[in-house]
Amino acid sequence: MKKLLNVLRSDEIDTDLIQVIETLIDASKEIAFRVRQGALAGVLGSSQEENVQGETQKYLDIISNQLMKDLLLACEPVAALASEEEDTVVAANATGKYLVAFDPLDGSSNIDINGQIGTIFSIYRALDSIPHHSELQFSQKGSQQVCAGYVLYGPSTLLAITTGNGTRCFTLDSRQGDFLLTSDKIQIAKDTQEFAINMSNSRFWNEAMKSYINDLVLGETGPRAKRFNMRWNAAMVGDVHRVLTRGGIFLYPSDSRNAKQPAKLRLLYEANPMAMLIENAGGKAHSETQRILDIQPQQLHERVAVILGSANEVSECLAYL
Ligand code: F6P
Repeated sequence: MKKLLNVLRSDEIDTDLIQVIETLIDASKEIAFRVRQGALAGVLGSSQEENVQGETQKYLDIISNQLMKDLLLACEPVAALASEEEDTVVAANATGKYLVAFDPLDGSSNIDINGQIGTIFSIYRALDSIPHHSELQFSQKGSQQVCAGYVLYGPSTLLAITTGNGTRCFTLDSRQGDFLLTSDKIQIAKDTQEFAINMSNSRFWNEAMKSYINDLVLGETGPRAKRFNMRWNAAMVGDVHRVLTRGGIFLYPSDSRNAKQPAKLRLLYEANPMAMLIENAGGKAHSETQRILDIQPQQLHERVAVILGSANEVSECLAYL
């Protein structure tokens, strides 16, 4: 089986970009180790801290963010980084060519129950026209990403990654410490009978979304005339990985719970990287109004509604909206 580094080299990826990817991978291996050790490494439980979005941070959120930051700041080609756990952009090297945005630990509510969690990352080219540490560096559209991926800490540690030439999956060989290619050029099935959404929010959705999900639930007797099954991991990495593996539609629509914050998932750290991975595997990724990768970001921690997965099913959903 091919090693990640050899695959990236054979794709003739810029060596500086390879260095950034390797740094992210090194950090994720360290996080994977801590996750496996669990209570033995003292990583479970919540701290008293809140992040910029007002969410209580788990110890593993803080540890993972620090690990990622430390390694990325020491990586010469990194100009600046943005983390879901940081208030502002963190300046790295003024001569660096790349920007890294990341969610160090997605699905934190799964930490204490030994469920799936992951690290999501996204890489952009730094713009010469703007100071390297400016927040404006990160106002590039998702279509400008040069690499996107996630590391899923589940029964196996998996890396899904794209540099714009298909989406691949690598599995960590924990004996040798290498990520080995286990699925090349993934293609998501166009149709599906599986959906993922947090149904407990249904009373807060708009009428169109209620109607779409209601028709799925009606199964063979409803207008869709087929039976649908539902899955919800409460960790986007786990749900997106299932969609990549066997198709499906994942939705986190906007809702009316909090008028100031109608959407939950972050554009920069979650929606954009997942959208690039999904599109590179033949799927579709939209907000409620447009293709996610075409959204012009307005703020670092901006949130967006997300509908992604099997292309025909995403189109069906958009037709309701
Ligand atoms: O943004 C964090 C996140 O944990 C996602 O990974 C996941 O899809 C979602 O939130 C879960 O939300 P809820 O708590 O509504 O199930």
